[in-house]
Amino acid sequence: MKRIDEVNLRNKTVIIRVDYNVPINDKLEITDDNRIKESLKTINYCLDNNCKIILLSHLGKVKKEEDKHKYSLKPVSERLSLLLDNKVTFVPETRGDLVKETVLKMEACDIVMLENTRFEDLNDKKESCCDLELAKYWASLGDIFINDAFGTCHRAHASNVGISKYLPSCLGFLVLKELDNLLPIINNPERPFTVILGGAKLSDKLKTVE
Ligand code: 3PG
Repeated sequence: MKRIDEVNLRNKTVIIRVDYNVPINDKLEITDDNRIKESLKTINYCLDNNCKIILLSHLGKVKKEEDKHKYSLKPVSERLSLLLDNKVTFVPETRGDLVKETVLKMEACDIVMLENTRFEDLNDKKESCCDLELAKYWASLGDIFINDAFGTCHRAHASNVGISKYLPSCLGFLVLKELDNLLPIINNPERPFTVILGGAKLSDKLKTVE
């Protein structure tokens, strides 16, 4: 896949897949916004290119209707707006008339964030099972797809792998930064070496270790 700076983004509508799967407490406060901060470089680059920007992300695992309240991306859109010092229009839907109307009204440098892509998991796991009809729908909203969700690259979901089948696609600056850091170490490690892994989901990481 091309790098973001190898693609002509001028005046385009870009769909950026970010990883805003950030920790949120019971009061719906974001307790660590590092992932949001790390996405700013790609977003600002798109703003410099006069793009209309549509943001997609998942948050948490949405398995039942009640999960929707805790895992809405609304607080994330508000934090992003503060960090960017720019309006971010939050659409509390993942598809439908409101999405269509909002996107049609967008002007250059507008930023729109759709609701948590995993709300689509309540509909036959359409996001997590990479439903191609859903991916095609999201792709229809823009001209170019930018994958900047490094933390989600191990998932084949409609909002990352699926969309890339229907739009010219490239990698954002966060993914490029992580790859630049990782590849020399993975491809040619000096031995012996020690790997230190952290994070909440140990069961996922054990498969990677194996
Ligand atoms: C993460 O936080 O590891 C990524 O956002 C992926 O989240 P997931 O394990 O819920 O798919």
